[in-house]
Amino acid sequence: MGICEGRVAIVTGAGRGVGRAYALKLAQEGAKVVVNDLGGSAAGAGADLTPAQEVVEEIRAAGGEAVVNGADVSDWEQARQMVQQAVDSFGGLDILVNNAGILRDRMMVNMTEEDWDLVIKVHLKGTFAPSHHAANYWRLESKAGRQRDARIINTSSGSGLFGNIGQANYGAAKAGVASFSIITARELGRIGVTVNAIAPRAQTRMTEGLREVSGEMLERRDPEWIAALVAYLSSPEAADITGRVFAEVWGYGYTVGDGWKHGPRATASRGAGEVGESLRHALAAAGYNGGIERDTFLNP
Ligand SMILES: NC(=O)c1ccc[n+]([C@@H]2O[C@H](COP(=O)([O-])OP(=O)(O)OC[C@H]3O[C@@H](n4cnc5c(N)ncnc54)[C@H](O)[C@@H]3O)[C@@H](O)[C@H]2O)c1
Repeated sequence: MGICEGRVAIVTGAGRGVGRAYALKLAQEGAKVVVNDLGGSAAGAGADLTPAQEVVEEIRAAGGEAVVNGADVSDWEQARQMVQQAVDSFGGLDILVNNAGILRDRMMVNMTEEDWDLVIKVHLKGTFAPSHHAANYWRLESKAGRQRDARIINTSSGSGLFGNIGQANYGAAKAGVASFSIITARELGRIGVTVNAIAPRAQTRMTEGLREVSGEMLERRDPEWIAALVAYLSSPEAADITGRVFAEVWGYGYTVGDGWKHGPRATASRGAGEVGESLRHALAAAGYNGGIERDTFLNP
């Protein structure tokens, strides 16, 4: 028996990359899966149901249950219909993995309004819209005395947590996804829903152009390492894990994000001319909030 036996999952952006690995792993562990993918380019252009359909066929060929869904997850009504499809096809919903994403990297000074709007929409609204509709389903179930042991697993990024140059749109969205996860974990706990986020590191079409990797590094960037954690978090065993951001998830391990916290305190002053000395004292004693600290993760 798998650890997600009999559970129903939606995985967004599951036609390729890490989402595909999540869908296959969840199915392998006994879940029935709605395989969502809009199927556009890495920059979010176009649509094609083929990749998601192929994942559905792969799951069925291995004896699992899956249905295809071609929603744009950042479209309010399509996201609602996706949640409804899970309920109609499999009699309920237990797991929502918000994974769909695109990239439009540019230095902020060159970034167009469209680059900004589309990346923010796909990642942030594409997390909010399915979560909202799923949470409303779970709230009604809870009110009717049928509380489900439910999960939302969102996708942040090292870029959002530590700050990658050239990704102001994407990083802002992914930092937003981390905060969204912490806030909604606090809101949804009372109706039986856990919410966590992960920042994956994997070799997919999103990252393959960025740098050459081979050998052990390539093997540790196989999405299956991440999928195993997602399946565990989706299982009944993980009912007590919520509000966490796993800050670096790959074959070299997972780090538990330690989040924003108060650092050294400077003395307040009403006079601007008196601010500097105490402020600089505090800054000298403070840790880094990105950049350099992140580099320690790149060479395990
Ligand atoms: N690969 C990495 O190392 C890495 C690192 C950090 C974060 N991430 C995040 O992990 C997630 C998966 O990325 P990946 O590397 O597998 O990329 P990928 O491009 O291989 O897969 C993303 C999938 O999302 C789908 N998608 C895009 N917009 C959609 C929409 N509006 N509605 C439905 N589906 C949509 C695409 O068609 C694609 O199949 C993304 O959120 C990405 O930002 C990946």
